Amino acid sequence: MRKAYIAGNWKMNLTPSEGAAYASALKKACEQAGADVKIMIAPSFVSIPAVLDAVKGSDIIVAAQNMADHKSGAYTGEVSPLMLLDLGVKTVILGHSERRQYYGETNESINKKILLALELGMDVVYCVGETLEEREAGKLEEILSAQLAVGLKDVAPQDMSRITIAYEPVWAIGTGKTATPEDADDAHCFIRKTVASLYSKDIAEKLIIQYGGSVKAGNVKALMAKENIDGALVGGASLSVEQFLPIITYNK
Ligand code: 13P
Repeated sequence: MRKAYIAGNWKMNLTPSEGAAYASALKKACEQAGADVKIMIAPSFVSIPAVLDAVKGSDIIVAAQNMADHKSGAYTGEVSPLMLLDLGVKTVILGHSERRQYYGETNESINKKILLALELGMDVVYCVGETLEEREAGKLEEILSAQLAVGLKDVAPQDMSRITIAYEPVWAIGTGKTATPEDADDAHCFIRKTVASLYSKDIAEKLIIQYGGSVKAGNVKALMAKENIDGALVGGASLSVEQFLPIITYNK
């Protein structure tokens, strides 16, 4: 049985003080609602300390949205995974399509980060997904296969329990267009099959696959009802507790 994993990626939103206020409100709301899913929020780097402080005493995971591919050195503007670990951050989102699209990240460069995060004992949410152009050209499976084979290259089977895959079709991110639950489930099923062939059926069966792309209170239930959809990576609708809480408590 895979435990549902609901995550909020704040992207470049919420200042440290806004983030702290949000996080303490979320903590309280989750307690009151008796939320029983795995919950993660990913603030910007500078908001992490305040948010960590605000969620103290709860099971809410605070993750980073990215990290450097080196432990330290002359890499101006970068944030080392060692710095994140020192704060108490154990989870990192890697390979988000906005990192690929605007900052030139590739399957190869993301693989380097994934290996470093795992080496340091961190958990990774690895984002994959196709653009509209790729989907329309019938390349969905080709793109996902490459993202998985290259992104997970040299990841040891025993480390796969620390990897979550987030399937985020680029055309559904921030556009209000959600993949239908059937389309999303098909892609998730393909991802699971690919991981089974790269690793084993057992590893694939245990793999948590989140869906991301315009997830909202109104569509989360139908998405989560699908066999291969184990969670959500939420952008816009994770920016307020009012919108995020009903997603977290979709099963209530
Ligand atoms: P939206 O929920 O705003 O479409 O963003 C999805 C996303 O990119 C989460 O990482």
